[in-house]
Amino acid sequence: MADLEAFAKEYDVPISQPETMKLLEVLIRLGRIETVLEIGCAIGYSAIGMAMAGAKEITTVEISDDAARVAQENFQKAGLSDKITLHHGDAKEVLPTLNGQYDMVFLDAAKAQYGNFFPHCLRLLKPGGLLVSDNVLYKGMTATDELVQHRKITIVKRLRQYLEMLSAMPELETSVLPVGDGVALSFLKEM
Ligand SMILES: C[S@@+](CC[C@H](N)C(=O)[O-])C[C@H]1O[C@@H](n2cnc3c(N)ncnc32)[C@H](O)[C@@H]1O
Repeated sequence: MADLEAFAKEYDVPISQPETMKLLEVLIRLGRIETVLEIGCAIGYSAIGMAMAGAKEITTVEISDDAARVAQENFQKAGLSDKITLHHGDAKEVLPTLNGQYDMVFLDAAKAQYGNFFPHCLRLLKPGGLLVSDNVLYKGMTATDELVQHRKITIVKRLRQYLEMLSAMPELETSVLPVGDGVALSFLKEM
């Protein structure tokens, strides 16, 4: 994990912040989470961390050719290729082809598209499962107008709509934590 953190720093790859990674590890151990769908793999840092925390089967999606190649190499190096399946492509096209039922979905790809990915996240989540959406506070911009940078306004608006939608859904119990760049935890009730 330290090697991947150093690689990400050197090549400016966006990976989860260490405190977000710790939260994922705690959630996986606490919830005895076995199956995870991750949307946004980058170089495999969070997928490897989640596998090391006890997740037995991880399906992850990544659009970038370079990131997907490096992630596959990292899964091999870590001896985790049998536990982690990488779908190389746009989540918009990959998600409709998936049919599993996952204990946890970790949404960590293009923030402006969270609302578009969400119906699949919900469809693929087991009742009693957990949707974890990363970067929802977006450097505080989602929480307060004072921090909003004008060129980011579209993403901020979409993230606000996304959080409002999560909070309004009766089948979800959602809590937003100011950890890392902001993490929304949404528990899917067994109705
Ligand atoms: C924040 S990074 C993921 C970091 C990773 N989860 C980790 O913590 O190690 C977001 C990744 O999502 C990928 N991504 C963005 N849009 C995507 C899409 N439509 N489909 C699949 N991957 C996408 C980006 O290429 C990028 O590598």
